[in-house]
Formats: sequence, C-alpha cells, structure tokens
Amino acid sequence: MIPPLVFSQTIHNELAREVARNLGTTAITSEQLVGQPQPHLNLSEEGLSFFHPEARSKNKFQIDFNSGSTGWRIKRADHEKLIKKALGKSDHSLNILDCTAGMLQDTLLFLSLGHQVTALEQSKILFHLLQDGISRSKDQHIFKKLDLLNTKASSYAAQAKNFDVIYFDPMYPSTKKKALSSGQLEYISKILEIESLENNSIKDFEVLQLIPARKMVVKRPIKAEPFSLQTNYQVSGKTTRFDVYL
Ligand SMILES: C[S@@+](CC[C@H](N)C(=O)[O-])C[C@H]1O[C@@H](n2cnc3c(N)ncnc32)[C@H](O)[C@@H]1O
Repeated sequence: MIPPLVFSQTIHNELAREVARNLGTTAITSEQLVGQPQPHLNLSEEGLSFFHPEARSKNKFQIDFNSGSTGWRIKRADHEKLIKKALGKSDHSLNILDCTAGMLQDTLLFLSLGHQVTALEQSKILFHLLQDGISRSKDQHIFKKLDLLNTKASSYAAQAKNFDVIYFDPMYPSTKKKALSSGQLEYISKILEIESLENNSIKDFEVLQLIPARKMVVKRPIKAEPFSLQTNYQVSGKTTRFDVYL
C-alpha cells in the first residue's frame, strides 16, 4: 500500500492532491500526521521525497540529479569503462532497454554516451520520485533521449521491439548484507517492501532473454553465479560483473 503524501504549505494543496491521486494514496497536511513516526511521502518546495522511520539514514530519500550531476561521472569512471566495454563499440547510437531503472544511474551513463534509453521502473513511488528529480534537473538536455515508464519489465517484454541492448540490474537478494551497503539502496528496498514488490530475478531474466535484441547485459555482484550458463563473455570489475549474452 502506498503511504500518505504529506504537505505543509497551502500552495501545494492542489499539486499534492494530484500527485496523491496518481500514486493511489491520500494527501494530508503535516498536522494530520499524528502518532508514531510512519512511512510517508512529502511534498515541499524542495520537491517530492520519501521517509521511512526504520531506515538507517535519517534524511528523507529524494532523487537529486543536480548535486550529483558532475560527481556521478567522476565517481563512476571505472564503472563507465566497464559498461562501455560491455556495450561494445558502435558507430551509431544504440537503442537501450534498461529494465531496472532504480535511481537511473546506469541510464544516465547510457544517455551521456549518446544512446536512446527506455527505462522501466516497477515501483510507483520510485517512479514518481524519479519524475520529480528529472523535473528539477538543471540539465534537461540529457533526459531528451529518455523514455521512463512505470511498469514491470516482464509486462513490457511482449511489446519490446527494435532494441539493440537489453540491460538488467536486479536488486541483490535482501538476505545479503550487500543489499544494505548504501543508504539509497536500503531506501529502495524499503519502498519495494511497502509496495509488496517481490522480485524473482531468474524468472525475469528468462522472460527478458526472449526479447529480440543484439545483446543482453546483466549486472551481477562479482561473486554471484550467472543467471545462465549461456553467457558469451563477462566484463569484470572489483565488485561488479557484467554478463553479456549475444
Ligand atoms: C539495483 S536497482 C537498479 C539500479 C540502477 N541500475 C541504477 O543505476 O540506478 C533495481 C531497480 O530495478 C527495479 N526493478 C527490479 N526488477 C524489476 C522489474 N522486473 N521490472 C521493473 N523494475 C524492476 C527495482 O524496483 C529497483 O528500483
């Protein structure tokens, strides 16, 4: 169930009700949020955010493409090299289906390399946080070649056509400590829990592998088993591996 959307300023009344309607929840004022701290969405002049009292990070979770806009590429330079290698050389821009949008970090890499991306996110909450982050981004240009959709990849698979690359980066199993390695990933896990979105990565992989495309790139923790023994090649970094299927 989607938790309530809280707003404190009357100027946000109408927008809060519209966003709440789209999310399938109710908009309430901060005075109406009484009792024990509880998960909720928040709309303020800073945009849309999500709060969960059990998250280790006491900050609200918000997608901010501005503060990281220069940082994300520098911090992820090694990652960028691996992704480029996994995509392979191409003299034209690729049409990529990112089946697991998450925080759009990998999609941003694809976009910055000039590719066209359709990114799928199953979570309604995360999808709205992403839309909000994009609307506040100072770099609107980079999102011109992005089509962001709120759907499960397995539901979209049958209509997926004309993609060069299928990209799949599922969550790590929640029993592993790794899943809690970053505050942001922990928040995503909490969001998925609240929306009762359970993942079966192997089943998803099997459906996605049927989409006609030149290649499928699957991101895995370095020590994890590949989803299939049919991997054509692997591109490995220190902690992450990309399994490539042709
Ligand atoms: C590990 S995160 C992806 C991180 C992303 N690659 C990035 O760079 O920010 C996995 C995300 O994919 C979403 N997801 C997982 N399985 C999915 C599926 N079958 N269809 C759509 N979204 C899915 C999850 O809700 C979560 O937000």
